[in-house]
Amino acid sequence: MKIQLSLSKSLNKTKSLVQILASKTEKPNVAVDIPQKLIKDALEIKKPLIFNTPSMVVGAFLADQSNQYKNLENLRLAGARLNKALNAQKLTEVQVLGANSEEVLAVAEGIVLANYQFNKYFTQPKLNTLQKVTLICDGVTGNQVEELQNICEAVYFTRNLVNEPQHFLTATQLSEEIKSLGKEAGFTVKVFNKKKIETLKMGGLLAVNKGSVEPPTFNILEYKPKNAKNKKPFVLVGKGVVYDTGGLSLKPTAGSMDFMKSDMAGSAAVVGTMYATAKNKLDVWLVGLIPATDNRPSGAAYAPGDVITMYNGKTVEVLNTDAEGRMILADALTYAIKYNPEWVIDLATLTGMAARTVGPQAIVSMGTAPKELHESLKESGFAAHERLAELPFFDEYFEMIKSDIADVKNIGGINAGSITAGKFLEVFTKQNNQHAYPWIHLDIAGPAFLDREDGYRGKNGSGVGVRLLYHFIKKQTK
Ligand code: BES
Ligand code: ZN
Ligand code: ZN
Repeated sequence: MKIQLSLSKSLNKTKSLVQILASKTEKPNVAVDIPQKLIKDALEIKKPLIFNTPSMVVGAFLADQSNQYKNLENLRLAGARLNKALNAQKLTEVQVLGANSEEVLAVAEGIVLANYQFNKYFTQPKLNTLQKVTLICDGVTGNQVEELQNICEAVYFTRNLVNEPQHFLTATQLSEEIKSLGKEAGFTVKVFNKKKIETLKMGGLLAVNKGSVEPPTFNILEYKPKNAKNKKPFVLVGKGVVYDTGGLSLKPTAGSMDFMKSDMAGSAAVVGTMYATAKNKLDVWLVGLIPATDNRPSGAAYAPGDVITMYNGKTVEVLNTDAEGRMILADALTYAIKYNPEWVIDLATLTGMAARTVGPQAIVSMGTAPKELHESLKESGFAAHERLAELPFFDEYFEMIKSDIADVKNIGGINAGSITAGKFLEVFTKQNNQHAYPWIHLDIAGPAFLDREDGYRGKNGSGVGVRLLYHFIKKQTK
């Protein structure tokens, strides 16, 4: 259920309230009397006080400012817990009261993000009742409330795309969804169809698409306000594999295909970031590139042993058709060179190895960007609590993807699978053997699709990447 955020000066003491207390002796500002003992017990942020009456829920906790990022994350998580309590009581509104604007916004963010549901396919959905969150804090501005609203909606749209099954979300349908979000937020969308992709000779995207009955698309999203601070665009690239069966190198059927509708989570994060950036009118020139297709076995499918000529003219020996993400991203990374970008960041559910290495708690990162840029992205990772775990990216790893018969092969050995995937991509960020732009690769295979509920991230599509990149992009406008 979508939530409307708003700002108010006055508190209604008979309505539900979440309050960030200023001290151990302060009592929640409500008409009901809450026993002091309950409050004392609940000052631990991990177990916020939640006090129910038939008509209201009161939540209260003390913030702990000793670690800023941890504090904000704990407040978001507290917001998620309160969201549960409010919906359990079938309440429609809640107020959030506190003295510190960042803290109040974090609680609201947790409440709103936790209210997400994907109900499209239920015949009788159990809708959350909560619809309205009112912030009461002198330091919070109307613009901040609107900004948070837009970010949360961007995350909702991103999750919707990830949760959509492939029978609906074909590559063509993904393009339609992107166009409609572009219209709503104010970014342009250009879609290349199969014919155009053939004319351009995007060999990687076409190879992966060969086994499919659905045509591929290549999507170009652009937001370029007049007052953009960057002279060269920032470019985001997202893996848009709307379904990954593995192709002829078929995934083992038991379980491993169940979540592969989420193999376009990288592209969904790019769309969500474009949406949040355009809707909030950030002063940046931002481009999104999304190659999209499904990956299937069939009589026409590309096969292990094939040699593919890619968009940049380099040749790839395919040794596993399940390593398809890198094939389509390669062409998009080459296409990005056209823009002479300030930097390029790609997001992809690229390797099972990344998920096994860091689980749902981190995004695996690597790349050729200067250290400061990568560190700055990591810092945004802490702020958004979408944290990065950087892997080594030594030249020597390239040896593992050298082919006997082509410029490069599409898999390495059993070791360092996430890194060799990155090394493969790096080939396509180069022109005349030089890196064409600073580049960071984000492997989001761990946190993109969650198999259990995790605070305000919920279950299934998490929308990971949107809040991270929005924070990072906004930083560049200052
Ligand atoms: N989409 C998968 C990676 C993936 C696996 C994402 C599990 C999320 C959860 C990717 O296309 C893939 O299949 N990668 C292979 C690469 C291998 C063949 C070199 C993998 O990780 O097993
Ligand atoms: Zn695959
Ligand atoms: Zn894949």
